[in-house]
Amino acid sequence: MAHLQWLDSYRIHIDMIDQQHLQLMRLINKLDDAVTGRDREAVGQVLNELTSAVLNHFEFEEKLMAETGHGHLKAHKKLHDRFTEKLVNFAHLFDGGECIIEEFHPFLLEWFARHIEEDKDYGVTAAAEMNAPSDKKPGWLRRTFGKKE
Ligand SMILES: [Fe+2]
Ligand SMILES: [Fe+2]
Repeated sequence: MAHLQWLDSYRIHIDMIDQQHLQLMRLINKLDDAVTGRDREAVGQVLNELTSAVLNHFEFEEKLMAETGHGHLKAHKKLHDRFTEKLVNFAHLFDGGECIIEEFHPFLLEWFARHIEEDKDYGVTAAAEMNAPSDKKPGWLRRTFGKKE
């Protein structure tokens, strides 16, 4: 299957989020390699890695949205929860011996591009907050992004 390539248009202009998205893209490609290599153990391992990277990423984004007072946090969280449910269900099916990865991979490719578009919606608000002077940033933002100044 085709690998995802990082595009400049994927950037949402918050470095830490862009780095996390890049990491997710690499894991989706790694999963593809494991499937192509017909290495079931490697597939299981990458699936675990992908699941924990996705959960950490969603938690980070939701925290950022809460701190920057983004009005669509609830709706955005729902999108995260829906994807988490699919990912966890898929991992269970895989653990149970089902081999539906070939169907799941195209879904991941499609999800990746969609997820970034959805994130762009809050990227602008959050970037403005982060560019504010350090003493004006709320606590978590200051702790997380303050060092860079
Ligand atoms: Fe994201
Ligand atoms: Fe998101």
